[in-house]
Amino acid sequence: MDEKLQARFNDQIALEHASERAYLQMAAWAEAHDYTGTAAWLRDQAHEEAEHAQIFMDFVLDRDGEVRLTALEAPQAEFDDLVALFSAALEHEKKVTTSIGELYAASQEARDYSSLPLLTRFLDEQVEEEASVSTIVGELAMVADDPSAVLMLDRELPGRRDAQDNGSSG
Ligand SMILES: [Fe+2]
Ligand SMILES: [Fe+2]
Repeated sequence: MDEKLQARFNDQIALEHASERAYLQMAAWAEAHDYTGTAAWLRDQAHEEAEHAQIFMDFVLDRDGEVRLTALEAPQAEFDDLVALFSAALEHEKKVTTSIGELYAASQEARDYSSLPLLTRFLDEQVEEEASVSTIVGELAMVADDPSAVLMLDRELPGRRDAQDNGSSG
């Protein structure tokens, strides 16, 4: 694998690990504020991000590349409320989508066509991730002034993920 491209794949691995930590930190905030449904949803999300990092690591290794983990910044730990938390999650997912898009372009530029199917899969996944988080932000914004509705939404979130997992290929 082209060395510059390999460095970019390592950057993506770091971003997936940063995503995992961002969600773990959000889960801690949610748990501390008694949003137990959200906390469970965020922990599952963190788990998925760890899997993404592993998939990219395996891919680099399969291509006879070198994996290098880096130091990571501390994730955001304070949020004004639940809608602010999910808005931050949405912004983060958009950043990941941009990064994978750039990795796709860099792979094309390096004529590394073997990377494209994996990246296409991740771009598809990002469409789903952004859509599900964006729906939650919208719903929370709708009921922001009604604590009982926010609580209901919170309790419903883990089931929503189960329905997603059963309904789609994953
Ligand atoms: Fe990810
Ligand atoms: Fe994600």
